[in-house]
Amino acid sequence: MTTRTGVEFEPLSPVLGARVRGLDLKRPIPSAVQDELRQAFSRYGVLCVPAPGVDIDDQIRYASVFGNVDAEGNGQLRFAEGEKRPKRGVMFVSNLRENGELVGVLPDGEMHFHSDGAHRERPYRGTTLYALILPSRGGETKFANLTAAYEALDSGMKKRLEGLQGRFVYDVRATLRHQTDESDDALSTATHPLVRMHSDTGKPALYLSRLMTRSIVGMEKPESDALLARLFDHCEEPRFVYAHSWTLGDLLLWDNRCLNHARNDFPAGEQRHLRRVTVSDPS
Ligand code: OGA
Ligand code: MN
Repeated sequence: MTTRTGVEFEPLSPVLGARVRGLDLKRPIPSAVQDELRQAFSRYGVLCVPAPGVDIDDQIRYASVFGNVDAEGNGQLRFAEGEKRPKRGVMFVSNLRENGELVGVLPDGEMHFHSDGAHRERPYRGTTLYALILPSRGGETKFANLTAAYEALDSGMKKRLEGLQGRFVYDVRATLRHQTDESDDALSTATHPLVRMHSDTGKPALYLSRLMTRSIVGMEKPESDALLARLFDHCEEPRFVYAHSWTLGDLLLWDNRCLNHARNDFPAGEQRHLRRVTVSDPS
């Protein structure tokens, strides 16, 4: 679909996602284009801009169209590209090492489905990820449409979920569920409704994930485990999922309010390096 401003949105799959064409991220984004981008974000959940040569400032400017960039406000927007500890909200998802030390987070292998920041009281609204180095195969990022997954539940299950809250716990080093020790008091934890109303579309979506949701508040463990296992499987059914095969220079944005994402495994020993900037609701 070509819009009024000449920017094009081309669906990536039947279930979610669009590729954006005709957008120059090296320049300020006109306000009419910003409106179209925000509408497309609500509609598709994932936007992919093919944008070779985008630097951190371009990425932050683009991210700011969709919410409060988590990097803003602490006066250190400019840091060297390889810097190890950039401020909150700007980081590398990377298995690269400098002097033997990882330069980023989530270095290797498969990652279970999750929504960024769900283990915090105030989760991230959206995440942008920019591909700088990619492995020769694997490492696709998969997205699951949790609005569609909620709609597909039968009315009995929708009723059962009414008012239920999930307990989220996550160890930031973990990529798989069993790697988080939920009895560790030092880990950040939060409680959220299992069905969440989207703040832009008003639509209900499931809000739970294999990586981060440990239990249902007030429910006996066997019942909670069984219900969560069933819901994790449901959300991950192929009919709700799009897997993104990255191209160098892709800038992806996803909506953490109504999507989960996960990562396919990729060859150990190959490099994968992406730059990540999150956006949050205004405080
Ligand atoms: C993230 C994330 C997945 C990937 O950056 O939050 O989950 O494909 N990344 O690396
Ligand atoms: Mn993530």
